[in-house]
Amino acid sequence: MKIFVKMLAKVMLLLVVSISFAKAQQKNDLALIPQPSSLTLGTSAFKIDKQTILLLPKGDEHTALIKNFSEQLSGILKQEVKTDTKTSGKNFIQFSINKNLGSEAYKLQVTKQKIEIIAAKPAGWFYCWQTLVQIVRLNLQNGNAHQIPEVTITDEPKFAWRGLMIDVSRHFFDKAVLKRYIDQMSKYKLNVLHLHLTDNQGWRIEIKQLPKLTSVGAWRVPRTGYWSGMAAPEPGEAATYGGFYSQEDIKDLVNYAAKRFVDIVPEVDLPGHSLAFVAAYPEISCTKTPQQVLAGDPWNAKRTNVVCVGNDSTYTKIEQIIGELAEIFPSKYIHIGGDEVTRNYWSNCKVCQKRIQDEGLKNVDELQSYFVNRVAKMVKAKGKTPIGWYETLERGLDTGIVQMSWKDEKGAVKTSNEGHKVILTPAFLTYLDFYQGDPYLENAPFTVNRLSNSYKFNPLPEGINVKNVLGGQGSLWTEQVPNERKLQFMTWPRGLTLAENLWSAAPKPSWPVFLKKIESHLPLLTLDSTNYSAYFYDPIVIAKKDDNGEIVLTIDTEVPDVAVHYAFDDTDPDQFYPKYEGKAIAIPKGAKNIRMVSYRGDTQKSRIVKLPIAELKRRAKL
Ligand code: ACM
Ligand code: ZN
Repeated sequence: MKIFVKMLAKVMLLLVVSISFAKAQQKNDLALIPQPSSLTLGTSAFKIDKQTILLLPKGDEHTALIKNFSEQLSGILKQEVKTDTKTSGKNFIQFSINKNLGSEAYKLQVTKQKIEIIAAKPAGWFYCWQTLVQIVRLNLQNGNAHQIPEVTITDEPKFAWRGLMIDVSRHFFDKAVLKRYIDQMSKYKLNVLHLHLTDNQGWRIEIKQLPKLTSVGAWRVPRTGYWSGMAAPEPGEAATYGGFYSQEDIKDLVNYAAKRFVDIVPEVDLPGHSLAFVAAYPEISCTKTPQQVLAGDPWNAKRTNVVCVGNDSTYTKIEQIIGELAEIFPSKYIHIGGDEVTRNYWSNCKVCQKRIQDEGLKNVDELQSYFVNRVAKMVKAKGKTPIGWYETLERGLDTGIVQMSWKDEKGAVKTSNEGHKVILTPAFLTYLDFYQGDPYLENAPFTVNRLSNSYKFNPLPEGINVKNVLGGQGSLWTEQVPNERKLQFMTWPRGLTLAENLWSAAPKPSWPVFLKKIESHLPLLTLDSTNYSAYFYDPIVIAKKDDNGEIVLTIDTEVPDVAVHYAFDDTDPDQFYPKYEGKAIAIPKGAKNIRMVSYRGDTQKSRIVKLPIAELKRRAKL
């Protein structure tokens, strides 16, 4: 009996210890995204009340920034938080400078008496402010926003380039949309907005010396639906879909972004993906045939979407373009494209062939390298750094060109070791046009990049030359992104995994731990009226042939703590339907579809995922 009591006491003790350990762990984590480098919680708290002020630093240089902060906090708390130049000695939020910190680093010190926001540069103050505001907004969910826990946070980014790319050619998104996008990304310390400004489906930037780029190149016939197989323009049909940014728009946008410490990097995609350019100025193509800007893809439509790189007048126009871009975008970078070039136009072009001879090149592959180096030189002549998508060119590229590595990680590993600076956006981990749920249910042109998969992105893959890695980005091609809500839906919550992977130097949390954090941020996206995908709750069905050649199904989830319920009788399952128990299931005779849903307890978490058995048989190769 005594032994039993002793054992019971031991078990109880263990239980108490493990519960308090779990609580301590929870307490040590404010669910911040990205996770700061170091975070130590105390036991007291700072209370924001009507007397709390934001103490302006000496001089008026930073007044506008701090006033923005005070307005933002007042909005969140629905209570005015004023700025002031002096304090009674406690109950204030102070901005101070520590020159020893890195240019984006910060320290946040919350005590019972005051909050201190410490950085070397305004960018550090901004990031510290984002952290503080995140704490307030997460607390708002528990009705506790005025109470800031005592905490010391020191933090700085792992990478300088923490980017998102939007393709504004395939679909156009106006300035107001981009401003809202910048607002959201900057809350998560993402700091580069790469604009893919030109492609076959539209030229989106005013170039004053080449007005037809926008009067012709920015417009195409309107089409709705699936990108592949979109109907070609009819004879005489008006090109009414499109738009572009005027140079004034860009000034305004750049200014807006700068206040949020976001750098806007322009891209003109050359020498391929250039149908809009060719439609505006057919003389710059090898065939010189008139073209129209397309809705849908030109690959099978025999459209000349590549510029002639033999012709000197092509370079004259490109120089004008680069010159104006360099004037209107203050970024130190200009992206010059370079992906997916159909080089056979050059093989059949006398002018291009002559260029190959004159320059002592072997073939069209080397001709492309020649073109890239020549355009890169124009960019450098303007004091800027060129970026390209290139990775497989035969003749060496100038190592001054930053490599944006997109097909996989191998390109970045290779070129970083050849002396190129690199930015990683490996498609299978970071492309935001890839869909987030079952392909059968989506109108998206390519493949899958689920939320849990995007979390696996490691900007420092094995073998990479670490000192040449600028960072990485999520890239959102917009073939199937026709409006702002879809733009947001494709970006969030995958943008959160990007922010974590590109900023946080803290040990990487396991997927289930990070997922919990994501879940606590979803209400903040809702609060900002930002759309996001909840497809990560979807059941994932895998179809296989069993030993008897019959199709069997297994079901997986990205979220570990949900139950999946299913039905084969074409009724919508709920939590009272058969629960998937982890074993392969056979398909009842006559079933047309499987319908699945995930629940956490009594709360429905996923949509109902309905897939035809015929589709599953196709996948199982039956
Ligand atoms: C690309 O996805 N073509 C860069
Ligand atoms: Zn040519």
